Amino acid sequence: MTNNALIIGGSSGLGLEIALELSKKYDVTVTGRRDPCQDAVRFMPLDIGADTCALQRKLDELTAALPHTDLFVYAAGFYQEGTIDKLTDEDIMKMNNAGFLAPALLISRIINKQQELPGYIAITSTSQWTPRLYEPIYTGVKAGLAKLSESLALDPRVHKTLIAAPAGMKTRFWEGTGRDLSVMLDPKWAAKQVVELYEDDFRYKFAKIMREPARVEVVEKIER
Ligand SMILES: NC(=O)c1ccc[n+]([C@@H]2O[C@H](COP(=O)([O-])OP(=O)(O)OC[C@H]3O[C@@H](n4cnc5c(N)ncnc54)[C@H](OP(=O)(O)O)[C@@H]3O)[C@@H](O)[C@H]2O)c1
Repeated sequence: MTNNALIIGGSSGLGLEIALELSKKYDVTVTGRRDPCQDAVRFMPLDIGADTCALQRKLDELTAALPHTDLFVYAAGFYQEGTIDKLTDEDIMKMNNAGFLAPALLISRIINKQQELPGYIAITSTSQWTPRLYEPIYTGVKAGLAKLSESLALDPRVHKTLIAAPAGMKTRFWEGTGRDLSVMLDPKWAAKQVVELYEDDFRYKFAKIMREPARVEVVEKIER
């Protein structure tokens, strides 16, 4: 029987590359706002906005429609720039929903439904540990997602947790910012590192995927 993987934010960039890599071994469902139109994966739309009640309803519907999830990957995220006074309440709530609340609500629903989560990968960022004046909410949700994931790794029903924190990658994330992508990581390469990091046997692992030079640093690993 083939195992199922669910990748939230698997419609583009790193999440899509992880989805394609995992599709060699898993039946993969990806979510996002835009269908990536890839034969190797099933697409389910999920638009995460600022409205928390709407998010709860969408996650209820998604959870009900899902098969047993053997591997849950949370890769959704977007770039948001501005000092805190320049961000609207809507900006702040949307980032909070997409970066922190959606994974928390979804994992809660999955564990309630199936009483276990065999595998979990959280995609954070170097922003998990780097303060950034112009990305206050983004850095906050990435740090929060990391601590949430580390805490979930203590739950015996969550069998295996990987936190993968990539540095800058050449993806749509930077669309419209004018950022120089030439020095950034290839998301296909980064996805291969994430899948390799997940492959061995462990209970909890935290790894940085760094650039210049491109390299992987395993910061912490807890054996079973
Ligand atoms: N690129 C970088 O330099 C970089 C560096 C460190 C960490 N990261 C993290 O890596 C992860 C993947 O990002 P990426 O670089 O691959 O960017 P990407 O190509 O833009 O992919 C982002 C994914 O998140 C989904 N997403 C974004 N906002 C959403 C929303 N409001 N509702 C629903 N889905 C949403 C996108 O879906 P649709 O496009 O279909 O809506 C897409 O599947 C993110 O968590 C990001 O924070 C990126």
